[in-house]
Amino acid sequence: MNVDPFEQIKQAQKQGWVHFVPLEALTTPAAAKLVRHAGVQAGQRVLDVACGTGVVAITAARAGANVSALDLTPELLARAREHGEVAGVKVDWHEGDVEKLPFQDAEFDVVLSQFGHIFAPRPQVAVSEMLRVLKTGGTIAFSTWPPEEMVGRSFAITSRYMPKPPVEVPPPPMWGDPDVVRERLGTQVTDLVFERDRMLVPALSLQHFRANVERSVGPVRKLVEMLSQSDQGKLAALRKEMDALAAEYLVDNQVRQEYLMTRGRKS
Ligand SMILES: C[S@@+](CC[C@H](N)C(=O)[O-])C[C@H]1O[C@@H](n2cnc3c(N)ncnc32)[C@H](O)[C@@H]1O
Repeated sequence: MNVDPFEQIKQAQKQGWVHFVPLEALTTPAAAKLVRHAGVQAGQRVLDVACGTGVVAITAARAGANVSALDLTPELLARAREHGEVAGVKVDWHEGDVEKLPFQDAEFDVVLSQFGHIFAPRPQVAVSEMLRVLKTGGTIAFSTWPPEEMVGRSFAITSRYMPKPPVEVPPPPMWGDPDVVRERLGTQVTDLVFERDRMLVPALSLQHFRANVERSVGPVRKLVEMLSQSDQGKLAALRKEMDALAAEYLVDNQVRQEYLMTRGRKS
């Protein structure tokens, strides 16, 4: 049977991100920054794609927006629903794929994604879906990892240890390069604004930092599981490279992870 290679990638993503929950403590403050960067207003129809445990969606709902949110991973959506109940806000949660959004054309005033849509294997398909559901004049905004910063560089390291994917896909941190963002959004989006910010990740030691990444970041967790069964030498080499990278960014028990926020208007 011929399995669609893009579906294979998405199945792997879906399994890998199940363990993401502890990292919501880090993406929660960033969510407030993205919602502010996007200028979300009360009464607006907002969509959060690749919402994970819902930190952006709930922040937007608390600001009075009418929010829908979508993610590939049902376990994270279950957590998102709990968060919505605790916060006392209503969000319309959907299990689904950013490359095939279950919404009408021009339904939303704002479409957001925090470190999420970057994992769709076909950036152009994700962009055209995010723009399709956005009204003319509406805002698209997202947070992404620049390739030259800590997280972008760690993607480059881990990708050298990973098996070849079933089909070639662009590395997610390309979404952190403003030139690539401009090219991918094309003429359909105007008034682009870029803003850099940083996430400070508490870490008692380099080993603690690495252990957290290996436990909770889907693609890294899968890679470590695979290497621990197939090649201990390679696993040790990967860990050495990851520790050397994190050491460059560890100051006062915090690892500095710079990221990029983008905002634009659909023309
Ligand atoms: C790093 S997490 C970010 C979650 C959340 N936005 C946050 O900031 O906490 C990446 C998320 O992307 C989701 N994801 C990956 N590929 C996706 C796709 N094709 N469609 C929808 N969600 C996807 C994963 O399930 C995961 O929840």
